[in-house]
Formats: sequence, C-alpha cells, structure tokens
Amino acid sequence: MLIAQLTDPHLRQPGQKAYRVVETDRYLTPAVAALNALEPRPDVVLITGDVTDFGRPAEYAALAERLAPLEIPWYLIPGNHDDRAAMREAFSDHTYLGETGFLHYVIERFPLRLIGLDTLVPGEGRGELCQARLDWLAARLAEQPERPTLIFMHHPPFATGIAHMDAQGLTGAQALETLIRGYPNVERILCGHVHRTIFRRFGGTIASCCPSNAHQVALDLREGGPSAFVMEPPGYQLHLWRDGELITHHAVIGDYPGPYPFHEAGGLIDE
Ligand SMILES: [Fe+2]
Ligand SMILES: [Fe+2]
Repeated sequence: MLIAQLTDPHLRQPGQKAYRVVETDRYLTPAVAALNALEPRPDVVLITGDVTDFGRPAEYAALAERLAPLEIPWYLIPGNHDDRAAMREAFSDHTYLGETGFLHYVIERFPLRLIGLDTLVPGEGRGELCQARLDWLAARLAEQPERPTLIFMHHPPFATGIAHMDAQGLTGAQALETLIRGYPNVERILCGHVHRTIFRRFGGTIASCCPSNAHQVALDLREGGPSAFVMEPPGYQLHLWRDGELITHHAVIGDYPGPYPFHEAGGLIDE
C-alpha cells in the first residue's frame, strides 16, 4: 500500500497571490500531475489541511477544479486556514466529511487503518484536540487495537523549534500523547501546518510534518525568529506500507536533470 501526502496548498483563486508572492493556483496542477505520474501509483492521497488560504467558497470551488484531474482517491481534512461549512459545501460528494460537527473520520478499506482528525479552531491559527475530539479518537482506537493504524491531522502535536509556528501549536497534545502511548499499533501521525519535513518521537510512535506543494516555512531555529516563508522546492511525501513497516520518502515537485545511471558494463562509471 502506498500513501501520498499532500499538504497546505493554501489555494487562492486563479491570479491571486498568497502573501503577495505565491500564486498557489499555479502550484497545485504540477503537484497533481506529479502524483498521477507516479509508478507505482499511490492507493490514496491524504491532503492534510490548509487546503485553501482563507476558507472562501470561491477558493474551494477552484480547489475542486484543480483536484478533478487527480486520478487517485483523495481525502481532505481541514487546517487553520479552512472553513468547515464551506469545505463541506464544495465537496458534498465527499460523504465521509459528514454534515455537521468535526470533520473527522475513519477509512477502513486499506490494509492500514486511516484516521483523519480535525484540529481546527475557527478564527485561530492554533489547533486543538478538545475533550470531545479526544473521546472520539479514543473510541475509534478502542475498536481495533490490534490493527496497524495511521492518524493524519493538520497541526503537529509537538513544538518544532520554529518559534512563530510553535506559537500556533496544538492544544491537547499532551492528552493525545497519553492516549497514543496505549496504542502501539499507531504507526505514525502525519501532519502538515509547518510546511517542512520534520519528525519527532511521540507517544511511542513517530509524528511528522510534510512540506507544502507551494511555499515552505523558513528554516529558522532562532528564539523569537520572525514569521517568514521561502520558495524552496515544493514537495510531498510518500508513505510505503510494506511487510508491516511504514517507510517515508520526501519527494520534490519540479523538473530536475536525470535520472543518470551509476553503473555501466557492470562497474561504476569512472570518467
Ligand atoms: Fe499552512
Ligand atoms: Fe496551518
């Protein structure tokens, strides 16, 4: 089973720029093309939040249009830039989003059980797993405590060292860690929000962040470092579930020279 993770497209309407710089609309189509071109083809694409920049209906409409050519089943969860009602409205055919309440759900049809969590707090940059959401997750985990399970959500449940992002972290992370510690079958917690590849040990599993398919958060570990982004190569992650192990690859989007062979006539090329 192969999972592609795409995150934080921050889609704006065509021609509009995010933060006066990023034409996010122009970044999503190459990402979709990159995923469609993969061989082997992923079984599923998890899109881990901040799917639009301002949660506007017109942005979701543009997103639906840009994602229509994606030939792999895909699932959405909201980030802090999203709006639950507008998201449901635009993707009414995505019945897993439900009609009211939190946008969390379980996907049972793959070898790895996939649980999507909703960390959105309307109007705020931080995320939260409140008691209601933690209770829902606890009930889902208790259903199949033996089955390998992957959780995906927008806000990482740990501080990253990037000060301005940590200032909009996840409330309830400690309670989540306690809960997860009781479930060694949780293989991974996949997150977005920080627009970089980051890993941390968490409650006996691994929690990680994925790069954006558009702009990246500047790698700045100074205390009080300013809020800033950079146009480093856009990316995504591939999570390969094979022989009971989950292996993660970071992938970049774009055209680069190669591939070139290492070997020729049975030996390493040396000239
Ligand atoms: Fe984001
Ligand atoms: Fe975010």
